[in-house]
Amino acid sequence: MNNPLLKITNLELGFNTFQGEHKILHGLNIHIKAGERVALVGESGSGKSVTARIILGMFDELTSANFSGDILFNEQRLDLMTKAQKHSLRGKEISMIFQDPTSSLNPTFKIGQQFYEVLRTANPKIKKQAANKIAIDWLHKVAITDADRVLNSYAFQLSGGMNQRVMIAMALVNKPSLLLADEPGTALDVTVQAQTLNLMRELVTQENTAVLFISHNLGVVREFADRVYIIYKGRIVEQGKTHDIFDNPQHPYTQALMAAVPRITGGGIPEIDDTSERYYDPIFIHKGGEEIGDPV
Ligand SMILES: Nc1ncnc2c1ncn2[C@@H]1O[C@H](COP(=O)(O)OP(=O)(O)O)[C@@H](O)[C@H]1O
Ligand SMILES: [Mg+2]
Repeated sequence: MNNPLLKITNLELGFNTFQGEHKILHGLNIHIKAGERVALVGESGSGKSVTARIILGMFDELTSANFSGDILFNEQRLDLMTKAQKHSLRGKEISMIFQDPTSSLNPTFKIGQQFYEVLRTANPKIKKQAANKIAIDWLHKVAITDADRVLNSYAFQLSGGMNQRVMIAMALVNKPSLLLADEPGTALDVTVQAQTLNLMRELVTQENTAVLFISHNLGVVREFADRVYIIYKGRIVEQGKTHDIFDNPQHPYTQALMAAVPRITGGGIPEIDDTSERYYDPIFIHKGGEEIGDPV
């Protein structure tokens, strides 16, 4: 039972270009245990999204993509599966949430119809009415109260935050054992992103869903993940429990990442010695109409 749910060994990826092969991933090793929340953190272009796409089989038909390595999911070799076998896992055992919820939903079908299709991947015989009931139930779980209206809407008629909740509900409704979340909600404003991430966290905790959480936002990672992989130019340079990585980063790149985080919480504004009377004396006097200037 202690075998990881997902185990990626020596994953390499290159894209063919006119100049020859351009190497992107240089032998990644990543594992995720059942129910574990693991973050993959690194700067833009480091190879986070391509890793998730390979797991989901999205590069299988891309002839310019060459990849190798073992991907073991639930003791099965994902990399050796047929298209049909992989297809049967997608949306059921493994699902994914993308950065931009509005463009990830299908613009031509109402949300209700899309929910129905998702539910049919797990249960091809499900009736529309039963699907509708489950969809409403799940929309309630992501704090959508007017579920009927949402199911009757197209994605473009809903706000970004609403679409993000819909996507979370759709990704989890079939109770997958692994959720790939690629910078979820980064396209949303900060407060909406925080709300939807909290919802996602509550639900994956309830359902014991393992998550590969891709992000460049260290603040969010610290709150969300049990364990962190730091990826730099297609290589994992450090991995460890979240608090160890944050409190005691070892690799110079990790140290640089941590040093780049603005410290608004935690230390707060540095203490200053404010006993001096001079604090009450302005240094500049604003004479109406003129530029601020003129030292007193
Ligand atoms: N389909 C593709 N064809 C060629 N190059 C790609 C393709 N997809 C991604 N890349 C390149 O692979 C590298 C890693 O991309 P990506 O995984 O999207 O980075 P990120 O860590 O920001 O998610 C980038 O240099 C990107 O330009
Ligand atoms: Mg990306």
